[in-house]
Amino acid sequence: MLLLTGATGTIGGALARLLAAHEVPFRALVRRDGITLPGAEVVLGDLDDPATLPAAFDGIDQLFLNTAGPYPAEEPVIAQQRAAIDAAAAAGVEHVVKISAVGTRTGGPMPFGTHAAIEAHLADSGFAATVLRPNTVMQNLVRGISGITPEGRFFEPFGGKIAHVDARDVADSAFAVLTGAAPRGGAHDLTGPAALTAAELTAALSTALGREIELVQPGLDELAPIMVERGMPESYVRHFVELAGLVTDGALAQVTTAVTDLTGNPPRSIEAFLAEHREQLLAPVKSYFQV
Ligand SMILES: NC(=O)c1ccc[n+]([C@@H]2O[C@H](COP(=O)([O-])OP(=O)(O)OC[C@H]3O[C@@H](n4cnc5c(N)ncnc54)[C@H](OP(=O)(O)O)[C@@H]3O)[C@@H](O)[C@H]2O)c1
Repeated sequence: MLLLTGATGTIGGALARLLAAHEVPFRALVRRDGITLPGAEVVLGDLDDPATLPAAFDGIDQLFLNTAGPYPAEEPVIAQQRAAIDAAAAAGVEHVVKISAVGTRTGGPMPFGTHAAIEAHLADSGFAATVLRPNTVMQNLVRGISGITPEGRFFEPFGGKIAHVDARDVADSAFAVLTGAAPRGGAHDLTGPAALTAAELTAALSTALGREIELVQPGLDELAPIMVERGMPESYVRHFVELAGLVTDGALAQVTTAVTDLTGNPPRSIEAFLAEHREQLLAPVKSYFQV
C-alpha cells in the first residue's frame, strides 16, 4: 500500500487525483477531521505529533513524502518530514519518493537548506529513495502567493530566469516512479520546458489575459522592511533576500528533460497553463510582494 502525505496540497493533491483516476489504491494521511479524497483510504495523523503516525504507516510499502513549504520557518517542516521518515523506517517501508526543490543545497537559504537537511536524513535512514526536485510550480500564480492586482500589476521581486513547472507534471513524475513505469532512485530536477525572465512571464500573462499587465519589480532594500512590517519573521526575510540573490544568479534557470525522461511526455508549458487558468488569474489578489 502507498501512503501519501500532503494529499490536500498543491502537488500532493495533483498526485491523489491521478492515482484515483488510474484506480491505484492509496492511503492519505490528513490532519483535519472530515476530509474525503476520491479513491483514498483517509487516515487521520499529524506530522507535528509523531505519536499519531504508527497506525497510518501500518502495512505501507511506499511513502510519498511531501508537506508544506518552509514558510515562515524551516524547523517545523524539517521536524515533520523527519518524523515521517522515522515512522516509515519503523513500519518497514521499502521506498520513499520525496518532494524536494530545485537548487537544494546544504546550508542554503530555505527552501534549499530545508530540503537538503531532510534529504540527508533520508539518506542516513538507508531507504531506497527517489528525490524529485521541482522548480517553482505554475500553480503559485493562482494560489495567492503572487498574482495580479485588480489594477493589472504583477509584483515579482525575483530577477533571473525561472523554469516554472506545472504541479501536474510533478505528480505525473511521482506517479511514474511509484507505479514502476519509471525506475526508482536518483534525484531529478523537474522543470517546465522553458525558463522565463519576469518580463517574459509578464508578456505571457498579458497575452493570456488579453490585457496589458504591468511588471513591478520591487527592490529588495524596499521590500524586505515591508515584509517585516507585515509580520514576516526577520529570519524568513533574511533567507528570502539570500534566495533572491541566488535566483538572480540563475539558481532556478536550468531547463531539464527530467519530466520527459520519467513520464515519457513533455512538460506542460506556461502559456498553456495561463490560458487554462485565465479565470483564476483574473480574480483579484493582494500580492505577497506588493510594495
Ligand atoms: N509550491 C512550489 O512552488 C514548490 C516548488 C518546489 C518545491 N516545493 C515543495 O513541495 C512541497 C509541497 O509544496 P506544495 O506547494 O504542494 O504545498 P501545499 O500546497 O502547501 O500543501 C502542503 C500539504 O502538507 C500538509 N501538511 C502540512 N502540515 C502538515 C502536518 N503537520 N501533518 C500532516 N500534513 C501536513 C497540508 O495539509 P493541510 O491541508 O492540512 O494544510 C497540505 O496537504 C513542499 O515541501 C515545498 O517546499 C514546492
